[in-house]
Amino acid sequence: MEPQENKRTGSYLLCPIDELVACVGRTFKIGKLNIALFKTRSGKIWALDARCPHRGGPLGEALCDDQVLICPLHGYVFSLETGQCLISDKYQATTYPTFITGGWISIELSPTSSRSLSQEVP
Ligand code: FES
Repeated sequence: MEPQENKRTGSYLLCPIDELVACVGRTFKIGKLNIALFKTRSGKIWALDARCPHRGGPLGEALCDDQVLICPLHGYVFSLETGQCLISDKYQATTYPTFITGGWISIELSPTSSRSLSQEVP
């Protein structure tokens, strides 16, 4: 399913949380943006720009643990929460807030660097 825009809020509905495999990235295309979405083993959801800031590697194909992902191209490590590269200060991936409603994950496309909204919204 393609992401669906909620025109009222400007957010995009991505997929049911149960569709994500823990610790394995998945890429969603929204307009010209590619978003890498991750579910950690503890159930937190994180979204980052899928283009690695190092040399454009596919972050949506990365593996993650509860705190970091590893770019599949050169192995640089990035914080899921902030997008900061832990190998070099020069690189930071853009992160986006996500939230869950009725078991579905949505994303806001206003970038954030430290916000986790992966809790259920009533
Ligand atoms: S492209 Fe991601 S670490 Fe080099």
